[in-house]
Amino acid sequence: MHAEIGVIGGSGFYSFLDDVEEVEVSTPYGPPSDPISIGTLPAGHRGAGRRVAFLPRHGRDHRFPPHKIPYRANLWALRSVGVRQVVAPSAVGSLTPAYGPGTLAIPGQVVDRTSGREQTYYDDGAVHVSFSDPYCPVGRQTTLESAQAAGWQPVDGGTLVVIEGPRFSTRAESRWFAAQGWTLVGMTGHPEAVLARELALCYIPACLVTDLDAGVEEGSGVTHEEVLRVFSENVDRLRDLVGEVVAALPSERSCPCPHTLDGLKLPIDLP
Ligand code: ADE
Repeated sequence: MHAEIGVIGGSGFYSFLDDVEEVEVSTPYGPPSDPISIGTLPAGHRGAGRRVAFLPRHGRDHRFPPHKIPYRANLWALRSVGVRQVVAPSAVGSLTPAYGPGTLAIPGQVVDRTSGREQTYYDDGAVHVSFSDPYCPVGRQTTLESAQAAGWQPVDGGTLVVIEGPRFSTRAESRWFAAQGWTLVGMTGHPEAVLARELALCYIPACLVTDLDAGVEEGSGVTHEEVLRVFSENVDRLRDLVGEVVAALPSERSCPCPHTLDGLKLPIDLP
């Protein structure tokens, strides 16, 4: 079973595909969050016939909190079924009142404030990938254009800070993040993006703002219920957008992502 494009997102995200089949993939890093669902964009849809692989980041029953997600297994499993471009929707908090709940943001940068997560495949040997621009430029542009065409007013750029969680930030942390000029806060964007880069995959974030983070809002602070409610209010629209992005992504990669490992001596064989 083969797919070109991967989506790491909620479990309902593949409802626009035909002929969905599940594959269990094993990896040197243990099993991924769940079996991968692979299907085809239906006849009549833009990009008809394209093969797409879905992986629910937290597992179907949401059993993996952000700090326990098997990130290495997830990216490895996607690459092993043929995936080379990964679209990654996620819920984030906003660090600026300008981006309220329901905003779609395609950040340009990421800051790692996680701790203790496995974040490399290259524990042996010296493999140092470039990460100055963490996201695929072509994938970002495609997503922005698809979002505009679908009636979103997407935010182009900004910085996502990824916290360890699972707790939300204190007001002081949140104000500090905002004072650095960072605009979004989430819990899953790292090490997902860097592991994708280490496998020479394109990685494309699509961040849905579910709340104003603690330092920005005036009330009692962000709650889990609030995040779930706003995400569920927007999930159908976001899923449709992911379908459009998947259809619009170029099948020949002209971005720098496939060349990440050119000239490097790898201590492991990639799938
Ligand atoms: N995910 C959604 N909202 C968040 C927030 N405020 N902080 C961290 N992760 C989040």
